[in-house]
Amino acid sequence: MQPAYYRDDLALVHHLGFGTHADACAPGILALLEPVRERRGLVLELGCGSGRLTRHLIDAGHRVVATDASLSMLALARDHTRGAEDIRQLTLPEDPLPEVDAIVSVGHALSYLPNEAALEKAMTAIGMALRVGGVLALDLCDVAWGQVRRDTPMAAWVQDDWALVTRFSITEANRFVREMTTFVRNHDGCWRRDDERHENILIDTAKMPAVLARHGIAAKVAPSFGSEKLPEWLVAIVGMKSPA
Ligand SMILES: C[S@@+](CC[C@H](N)C(=O)[O-])C[C@H]1O[C@@H](n2cnc3c(N)ncnc32)[C@H](O)[C@@H]1O
Repeated sequence: MQPAYYRDDLALVHHLGFGTHADACAPGILALLEPVRERRGLVLELGCGSGRLTRHLIDAGHRVVATDASLSMLALARDHTRGAEDIRQLTLPEDPLPEVDAIVSVGHALSYLPNEAALEKAMTAIGMALRVGGVLALDLCDVAWGQVRRDTPMAAWVQDDWALVTRFSITEANRFVREMTTFVRNHDGCWRRDDERHENILIDTAKMPAVLARHGIAAKVAPSFGSEKLPEWLVAIVGMKSPA
């Protein structure tokens, strides 16, 4: 089933214009995953989008199962990424996760979950899927993400073949909303329009280590995965599955 987020046109616009975040996170994540690569462990990527991080993982020699809720994103990932063990639909928090040696996710995919209960459910699934010694590396929007963006004006990006207009709002203290209008040029030169409304849950990320500890993962909140600079109040959660 195709979910509400990232239909064809916004997935394409994300791929063409907004893949640099995954590129920036890749070196730090690859360094964290080095022990997993050495033992030929399996990496599960959640919310892989069009596969920008996936490609870095594969190029570095990792075995990767890349997953996302959006079929449009997965189609792009299949077009642009060769060599994954699998690229398949996985919608958090309901879908089962395979047993793996690392779980990674960038671009605040887990902030797309509808509420803290769903996030906790996803963390339970992550805790069950990670093998002992397995590595967790993902980014999440903190509640301060919304505070520092409270007055962000409408923004627009215009390229030859696509344009994006985004309006921002904070409907509740813990909910950041982006209303996005895309314009993509058809083969006949006409433009088509689509609209998506994205709601991201904002959480007190300082509480995440305690949440993950309940699921057997010793984790910390960090300002970045490595030496990259993350957007303000997008934080890295980095951890390891402990022995029972
Ligand atoms: C901002 S994009 C980031 C994509 C990619 N990781 C990147 O950095 O370019 C967020 C991704 O999370 C995915 N996503 C949203 N909700 C999801 C869910 N419930 N389960 C799995 N993926 C989800 C979206 O389809 C989208 O591909």
